[in-house]
Amino acid sequence: KNEIISLEEITQFQSPTHEFNPYEWYKNKLENEPVSFNEATNTWNVYRYKDVKKVLSDYEHFSSVRTRTTISVGADNDEGKHMGKVNLMSDPPEHRKSRSLLSAAFTPRSLKLWEPRIHEIVNGLLSDIEEKQVIDVVKDFASALPTIVIADLLGVPSKDRELFQNWVYDLFLPIPKENAEKVNELKREAAKEYYNYLFPYIVQKRSNLADDIISDLIQAEVDGERLTDDEIVRMTMFILGAGIETTSHLLANTFYSFLYDNDQIYEEVRANRELLPNTVEEMLRFRFNIAKMDRTVKKDNDLLGVPLKKGDVVVAWMSAANMDEEVFSNPFTLDIHRSNNKQHLTFGNGPHFCLGAPLARMEANIGIGLFMDKFSRIEPVSDFKLEQNLTPAATGQTLISLPVRVYK
Ligand code: HEM
Repeated sequence: KNEIISLEEITQFQSPTHEFNPYEWYKNKLENEPVSFNEATNTWNVYRYKDVKKVLSDYEHFSSVRTRTTISVGADNDEGKHMGKVNLMSDPPEHRKSRSLLSAAFTPRSLKLWEPRIHEIVNGLLSDIEEKQVIDVVKDFASALPTIVIADLLGVPSKDRELFQNWVYDLFLPIPKENAEKVNELKREAAKEYYNYLFPYIVQKRSNLADDIISDLIQAEVDGERLTDDEIVRMTMFILGAGIETTSHLLANTFYSFLYDNDQIYEEVRANRELLPNTVEEMLRFRFNIAKMDRTVKKDNDLLGVPLKKGDVVVAWMSAANMDEEVFSNPFTLDIHRSNNKQHLTFGNGPHFCLGAPLARMEANIGIGLFMDKFSRIEPVSDFKLEQNLTPAATGQTLISLPVRVYK
């Protein structure tokens, strides 16, 4: 079992709002402590673009095989553990096999097949809200969309999406310093329920293959090996977590940004849709905060300008790297016209680069685009209090609700 490193001890944000807007903190780290050791957690932390990129991609020196980590995925009971052939917490060359098995489900061909399904899902959600004047864009849209998409792509009924949402939330909850055992118990419970829910679907699909991720995983073969039912359940647990909270966070924060960072963008992009893909990239750069990933030092080195010892943990802060002025001019300004914003590191870098990035991008572009077709204008509601609408999640402080007044 991995020892979990608590990020709170590194960041020490004063409030949920502070964590949601960590720009000053990043600025200070980038300028004054770009490579620094944190005593409380016994970790190295890197913030600048070139260092973050190096740590994420140089697997000869920085390994994804961990005994201490900031990521809490799954649970520590049998149902929630990562086991078997598929192990993404590995380095090349072993990593290659797991990645190939999984990428069977994420080919460009799959994406083409999914595009009309995503359109349909978005249209369904929009027709449920079109008569309202004020919507909760988190509940009604941002968290609903990725959950239904993943359920649909996996090939399980999307009517069960609330079950999914709750399991994922629990499975990926960060472990707090206090009440750790309570959170661990929630995770075990969620893992068990999820496992029992999904297992029969896999058995059933073996004799009834369809166009979905579970069927792709059933057929995937690398070096003559195939996945067992058990491995597929655990794999989907991971896909669910990787695919739902992240994309929900991106969508919710994008609407937050439209309302509170710069209220001109919605109208501008609505009038000129060519700007949408770049707007999504800028949101990934600027509004997907607390993106970080850790690696364990594989052999002694001084690649970061400090003496790193085998076994040291290095936390690479992608969101800080996204604000590095060596790469992004006026990094603390939201600029949808920025020409190089696709260089952000929010999806990682190197051999572990996010397999779901094309899907996340597609969901965001289709989702926001169709939303704009339906609603000509959006406005904040006056009594919204950010602080009371945030909750800790795997993605850092995350919006639980965001009321928006919409005009057709
Ligand atoms: C890996 C971010 C959406 C599936 C990663 C990594 C990051 C990331 C940073 C690299 C981890 C590392 O370096 O160790 C995001 C963000 C998303 C998103 C910001 C949305 C805004 C998705 C979606 C899926 C997905 C929609 C699938 C449905 C995966 C998988 C990996 C991964 C399978 C592991 C790849 C590997 O280790 O080789 N993601 N992700 N992600 N992501 Fe995503």
